[in-house]
Amino acid sequence: MEFSQGLISAAYIIAALLFIMSLGGLSKQESAQNGNWYGIVGMSIALIATIADPRVSNVGVIIVAVAIGGAIGFRLAKKVEMTEMPELVAILHSFVGLAAVLVGFNSYFEAHAHVLPVLTDEQRIAQNIHLTEVFLGVFIGAVTFTGSIVAFGKLRGLINSAALMLPNRHKMNLAAGVVSFLLMINFVSNGGGNFELFLMTAIALVFGWHLVASIGGADMPVVVSMLNSYSGWAAAAAGFMLSNDLLIVTGALVGSSGAILSYIMCKAMNRSFISVIAGGFGTDVTVDTDVDYGEHVEIQADGVADMLANAKSVIITPGYGMAVAQAQYPVYELTQKLKAKGVEVRFGIHPVAGRLPGHMNVLLAEAKVPYDIVLGMEEINEDFGETDVVLVIGANDTVNPAASEDPGSPIAGMPVLEVWNAKNVIVFKRSMSTGYAGVQNPLFFKDNSQMLFGDAKESVEKISQHLS
Ligand code: TAP
Repeated sequence: MEFSQGLISAAYIIAALLFIMSLGGLSKQESAQNGNWYGIVGMSIALIATIADPRVSNVGVIIVAVAIGGAIGFRLAKKVEMTEMPELVAILHSFVGLAAVLVGFNSYFEAHAHVLPVLTDEQRIAQNIHLTEVFLGVFIGAVTFTGSIVAFGKLRGLINSAALMLPNRHKMNLAAGVVSFLLMINFVSNGGGNFELFLMTAIALVFGWHLVASIGGADMPVVVSMLNSYSGWAAAAAGFMLSNDLLIVTGALVGSSGAILSYIMCKAMNRSFISVIAGGFGTDVTVDTDVDYGEHVEIQADGVADMLANAKSVIITPGYGMAVAQAQYPVYELTQKLKAKGVEVRFGIHPVAGRLPGHMNVLLAEAKVPYDIVLGMEEINEDFGETDVVLVIGANDTVNPAASEDPGSPIAGMPVLEVWNAKNVIVFKRSMSTGYAGVQNPLFFKDNSQMLFGDAKESVEKISQHLS
């Protein structure tokens, strides 16, 4: 089946509109499911229209490739744990980057195969535009490719999550940028050049690797979203090379929404956007591991149950540990029990709690926690002072007072949930070990804090039993 160009353009416009509606839907929990559906339908239309384009040959091969890729993707997405989602996203970004590099090389060598000896002015302008697209597409793609592999490795624990602090690293980054720019000028003005293209690709691959390796674990959420943005621009560049309008639109949507998300996350963590994307520029802090914070106090599940039964107001601040323990279901059961006893229970969500944006919101929605008791950090931070009990369930960095009290801390300046202002704080975790950023948490040693050790799910279930 072949579509006419008019029909293909119409299909592309519909798909582009569906992608915009999808992004709109995904911006709110209530409409997220519809948003997903708009995206799925849009992508299906786009795929069918692309395959049905009369300029496309080898349709059978493409269909087989889509079927194999789709089956692998389906299996991976079904198998992946929520906590592993950022890793999956990171490795998928690397594929987009690699695809942009391959499209760039293909487009360059194909056009180069029939270079005209003498060019008219118009042909020269068209050629210059094409060569610039190729160069930028390959550059962004290569940076995205290796950067995403490093992000995947760091999130998976295959690569040390601490920032790689090579001497003169900012100068090296700057040099890579300047040399690549000079190579591009040579490449375009000479009407192409294998040497420039290959050298730039090698530089971009190392640059992408180094850029992300220089960023510490605590900034990884921003990096993943920034790589999401890069992968969008890489796709847009591929769209220009292939003269595919939909790829340009989709790439620009992904590129700009990823950039906006990175900016919002940087604001939420009080990080400078430029410093994060420039490979941790200005974040040279030292971690002092010898500070004596005093002794922590332990509590058992029955003690927490008594405390909760006598409380008027409770705030639950979940974190990564709740996701690992899959404690969201018993947590909601506990919430309902407390509500039945007349206790006001609300949830306070930090923007980077867990391992991906909206992680906690998704888990709580899964457990059917009503949206109106789930509040964002800025909505709830003022209320801790009037709260009887805060249950910190598997959260650590996002409730660390060092962020506001210790200017030398790697998370200094990051806004956190000010749970320590409550009358009582119960911290659910398995040990005294640190959170994702690898820094000690003085909250655990405060006079109004008590530690409830054990798996978060089991601890919450025990409290519920005592309450019954
Ligand atoms: P974290 O600081 O990562 O701390 C989680 C805590 O959960 C750990 O201290 C761990 O202590 C505990 N834990 C693990 N498994 C548990 C279990 N089964 N039962 C009970 N506790 C368990 O969590 P957070 O406060 O949510 O902060 C998130 C961190 O991840 C931030 O540093 C953030 O920058 C980073 N990050 C966020 C994202 C996004 S976008 N959300 C993406 C990547 C990274 P024990 O080992 O002692 O139990």
